[in-house]
Amino acid sequence: MFNVKCLNPIATCGLDLLDDKYQLVDEYADAQGVLVRSASMHELELGENLQAIARAGAGVNNIPLDECAKKGIVVFNTPGANANGVKELVVAGLLLAARDINGGINWVKENAADENIAKTVEKAKKAFAGHEIKGKKLGVIGLGAIGVEVANTAAALGMKVYGYDPYISVLGAWHLSYHVVPVKDLKELASECDYITIHVPSMESTKGMLNKEVFDNMKDGSVILNFSRDALVNDADMEAALESGKIAKYVTDFPNTKTANMKNVIAIPHLGASTAESEDNCAVMAVEEMMDYLENGNITNSVNYPACDMGVAKAAARICVFNKNVPNIIAQLTNALSSVGINIASMANKSKGDYAYTLIDSDDKVTDEVIEKIKAIPEVFKVRVIQ
Ligand SMILES: NC(=O)c1ccc[n+]([C@@H]2O[C@H](COP(=O)([O-])OP(=O)(O)OC[C@H]3O[C@@H](n4cnc5c(N)ncnc54)[C@H](O)[C@@H]3O)[C@@H](O)[C@H]2O)c1
Repeated sequence: MFNVKCLNPIATCGLDLLDDKYQLVDEYADAQGVLVRSASMHELELGENLQAIARAGAGVNNIPLDECAKKGIVVFNTPGANANGVKELVVAGLLLAARDINGGINWVKENAADENIAKTVEKAKKAFAGHEIKGKKLGVIGLGAIGVEVANTAAALGMKVYGYDPYISVLGAWHLSYHVVPVKDLKELASECDYITIHVPSMESTKGMLNKEVFDNMKDGSVILNFSRDALVNDADMEAALESGKIAKYVTDFPNTKTANMKNVIAIPHLGASTAESEDNCAVMAVEEMMDYLENGNITNSVNYPACDMGVAKAAARICVFNKNVPNIIAQLTNALSSVGINIASMANKSKGDYAYTLIDSDDKVTDEVIEKIKAIPEVFKVRVIQ
């Protein structure tokens, strides 16, 4: 029986996956698995029982990752679980920029008391006319979980889509519609497109990625959509581009004190992933990742340990070893096992940064003596046996 503690409310559809091998507990100290959303774990002690922390969401700055890694506690997150939610709001953003929906709605509110509104609407509406997105060119920067969804959907809506991502993953490339035209640099993307939407992480290298140089290369009256992070856009350059008309509209899910006050900014209060479905997807993904690890030792979507999957644990014993990523560990592991006559049926070893993880299926049950032998290897943080 595995004990699971929820540090935040987790969507029921995720908790419903926990079968009779699991029980929810009140005491954090008793838990082998922790499910968490935004609760800070920095002040909590990482108990001896704790094996896995699954964060229902993407950001993990509420969890002490390195400390967990050194104790062999695997931290999972749920990348891409909210991609559809963000994509749908990007589509809304495209339409809000193309048609003056906001202006029109505001006009109706302002004229709600007008007895003849049904007639005056027909005269007033020409002030809010727009254009269609079909046939327009959309540049997508970053073709990860969200960017691919946006690109494919825009193509399905009849837009001509261009994609820029020098680091695209194999998975990203597989999922991308063949209608999306790859471009080699931002200059080409900017000069070609009517709309640009950015879907890259906020890092030192991507800070201010959308700036004067990019705007200058765009057609007059272009549109920028930012559903990633405000730091990706240079605010001063954006203000100048909006003033000059180079950029007609800036749609952002991350308003700040500068952009919230700029003309022709359509600002949304970080609603990209604020859907019941995104929450459900995150909960299901987090619970599934935690269960596969607790039951089989498999790791998918961990932020502090490498991905490693040997399927369902069916051998007499499955040994999970957490160690520092240094040479000669495998030799020491196999020596420790062969010295007591244990045969390795199957094995996988993966590393990520400073940490490495090994899964070994053995034909024999594993005794405490074997576990102690492996633990005695100085670079080994933890040994777990599923049998
Ligand atoms: N609005 C919201 O509510 C919301 C919700 C979730 C995520 N986000 C934001 O969206 C971003 C993207 O999310 P995701 O799930 O698609 O991430 P992801 O990791 O799946 O994809 C990011 C992509 O950006 C690419 N990339 C990195 N640097 C690049 C560069 N310099 N130029 C071009 N491409 C580059 C990567 O190769 C990758 O394919 C997140 O980092 C986050 O900031 C916003």
